[in-house]
Amino acid sequence: MALPTQRIRDEHAALWPRIQQFRQTASQAGDLPSDQLKAAIEEAYLFLENRVIPHARAEDQVLYPVIARIVGSDLATRGMTRDHVEVGTLANELGLLRVELSEDEEPPREVVEEARRILYGLYALIKGHIDKEEEIFLTLVDANISEAETRPIFDRMDAVSKQNRFQVA
Ligand SMILES: [Fe+2]
Ligand SMILES: [Fe+2]
Repeated sequence: MALPTQRIRDEHAALWPRIQQFRQTASQAGDLPSDQLKAAIEEAYLFLENRVIPHARAEDQVLYPVIARIVGSDLATRGMTRDHVEVGTLANELGLLRVELSEDEEPPREVVEEARRILYGLYALIKGHIDKEEEIFLTLVDANISEAETRPIFDRMDAVSKQNRFQVA
């Protein structure tokens, strides 16, 4: 039988290949032609704004309060929300960087280094965050809430996530 939190775990699994791509782009950044580097940065930025950040908002607004109720304190989930804030900060930095990149001029060395720092940082931050979320927090939900009870929670999460999607092009 599927776990009560399977829907969120599936969502993470769907996000994961694109997040792995961040690490790939970071390691290739110095060798990519300028148009390809710009396209990869652009794609990573839009993916964060349109998919990852809406997912995080839905957790902050709907899921984490449920977890805080189970735990009896919001101290632990505040640490998770802090990770989401850091993802937003790095996403903004990536957004600024994409403006600095030109399609036809060789990217300056500092810009390539900056792209590397941000993309490796995002990869490590998001990987650690998803691991904590699944191993600790979703496991806690699975142990305390039935599948039927999680359904309205996930429907509200989907609604919040959709409200926050596709605002950036
Ligand atoms: Fe999260
Ligand atoms: Fe998540």
